Amino acid sequence: MTHEELRTRLRQQAQGALSLNIAYIGVVDALFETLHELGAATAAQLAKAAAMDPGYVARWCDAAYAFGYLEAEGETFGLSETGRAMRPSLPGTLMPVAVQSVLSAHMAERAAALMRSGERPGEQVLAERETVLPWFGPMLEANFAATFENTICPAIPAFAEVDARGGLAVDLGCGNGWYLRALARRCPTLRGLGIDGFEPNIEHARRLARQQGLEQRLRFVQGDIHELRLDEPADLIAMNRALHHVWEKDPAALFGWLRDNLKPGGFAVVWEPAWTDDRQALREPARRNMAFQNLTEHVQGNHFLRPDEIVQAFESAGMPAQATLFAQGTEAVIVARR
Ligand SMILES: C[S@@+](CC[C@H](N)C(=O)[O-])C[C@H]1O[C@@H](n2cnc3c(N)ncnc32)[C@H](O)[C@@H]1O
Repeated sequence: MTHEELRTRLRQQAQGALSLNIAYIGVVDALFETLHELGAATAAQLAKAAAMDPGYVARWCDAAYAFGYLEAEGETFGLSETGRAMRPSLPGTLMPVAVQSVLSAHMAERAAALMRSGERPGEQVLAERETVLPWFGPMLEANFAATFENTICPAIPAFAEVDARGGLAVDLGCGNGWYLRALARRCPTLRGLGIDGFEPNIEHARRLARQQGLEQRLRFVQGDIHELRLDEPADLIAMNRALHHVWEKDPAALFGWLRDNLKPGGFAVVWEPAWTDDRQALREPARRNMAFQNLTEHVQGNHFLRPDEIVQAFESAGMPAQATLFAQGTEAVIVARR
């Protein structure tokens, strides 16, 4: 490629990022949802209905039209197919792509500065953007809940056993609680306890459980995974994208805790991005995002784990374990039994 061709290519890629930036605003300020409800509206009508500033909304409408999220007839706007696909309430919504894009830009800027000192400030960096923060839970749920219910549950026999056993499922680092809600819908005799270190997640999880009529069976409490005491042993202890957050402190103590807090025959099920030491594999489109995210995990004091490391950690704690890979080998579910 010539230098000019490279420039053209990179500018096209930059337009992709700009497009997602515009979509992000439409997501977090409910402009897509509001315009969907209105059907068709001028910028001023949209601003009023969404309770946003009309000057900003007028500019956003022009930009969202430019990037194909809106159609226009005179001064009246409506959602295009892509705009409809960004609505957070739509099953299979494309909202996570936009949220992830803006979060990534924020984390890249932080990593660029932090690299100079080597400081690793922790997860608080994720909370620095007030409009991003409420979207973590919905982003993770939209990204992973359907994969869990449609692909992982049917492929992992432990879940059929959990359905048959009922009892207590504990979700460590539960986020907005989507995983326990999914399990509770599958199994009417299961109770759930979700634990997360971040209080707004717990409030969010409680609210969603209440909305779905599951509050009698699902309890959510704030707590640190490193200092937990359960009132009773669990039939299932799950960690979804949470193990890498707590691994660096003392893995042997953590895996011993998992074993000691399960009933005999109970399962620990860990779901993690499947890191690889094969650098060439990181070039695969399905793994590139993971390579970027591992840099942002470093900012938070974490790093991604290889599935075999996790299996090894369970086996060192005396629990036989097995890893199953999903999504072209990029996602690993490790099941261990006490
Ligand atoms: C990537 S999120 C995953 C959330 C959820 N499991 C899901 O799949 O949507 C990691 C979660 O672990 C929580 N977490 C991290 N370290 C923790 C700790 N030491 N104790 C409790 N929760 C923690 C974070 O607050 C965050 O909600």
